[in-house]
Amino acid sequence: MKLFLALFGLFGLLATSVNALSTGMEDYTFDTTPLTWEVDVFNNGTMINMTGTVEQVNAQILEINPAFKFPVYETNKTDTLMARTQKDPANTCGRDKTDAQGWWWASLDAIQNGQYHLRTVPGRPWMDAGPKKCARVSCSWKAAIYWCNDNDHRLEIDNFGLIADCIQPITQDPDCLDNQAIFPPQKIMVVCGQHFVKEGWNCIAREDSC
Ligand SMILES: *[C@@H]1O[C@H](CO)[C@@H](O)[C@H](O)[C@H]1NC(C)=O
Ligand SMILES: *[C@@H]1O[C@H](CO)[C@@H](O)[C@H](O)[C@H]1NC(C)=O
Ligand SMILES: *[C@@H]1O[C@H](CO)[C@@H](O)[C@H](O)[C@H]1NC(C)=O
Repeated sequence: MKLFLALFGLFGLLATSVNALSTGMEDYTFDTTPLTWEVDVFNNGTMINMTGTVEQVNAQILEINPAFKFPVYETNKTDTLMARTQKDPANTCGRDKTDAQGWWWASLDAIQNGQYHLRTVPGRPWMDAGPKKCARVSCSWKAAIYWCNDNDHRLEIDNFGLIADCIQPITQDPDCLDNQAIFPPQKIMVVCGQHFVKEGWNCIAREDSC
């Protein structure tokens, strides 16, 4: 638990403004308003609106209530929900900077850390009408997870863990993975890609400045 809290503190320090969006993803209109959602910070029914990436929000929660216990939501439905709902083709992989999207590799470890945080953050994510509207829900160590709404209506999903589930197939697609020295000199596993589900939303794992 101590390590767990220390990690959240660390991510809080690393997190910076969500408004500082980098270039790339020309095909998508970014929502420069970061996500806001209600959290029961004291577990007594008093909801407080939190804004930012999961790393930022988790840090804010601990500032307000250092005793907050982060539940781990069992939302890994990759083999059920995602298999049933993914589009064909489900993944678009970003292989290098010259591809249409201009995205770049992110550390697989850092993306998986973001997935873990998404599974622990309380509240229901929602986003204004799209299409092609994205919000950055996680960013650490130059690795970002975006959640995008392609519907022409407001989107609300059950929990942030579903976004982690959405990311999972990208991290398991050999075409979306590589071995690169993004933090030289050593090579590490890296990932870059986008995954689409039939409900008209998608998620992106890519490099970004946090
Ligand atoms: C919940 O706890 C907070 C902090 O102690 C307090 O400010 C708030 O009024 C409480 N709400 C209820 C409904 O008891
Ligand atoms: C949080 O923000 C939403 C959207 O702006 C609003 O509808 C809701 O009432 C807010 N909740 C609280 C507790 O302030
Ligand atoms: C989620 O489920 C998939 C498919 O069953 C599995 O391969 C993956 O390891 C699981 N991920 C986590 C974080 O439990």
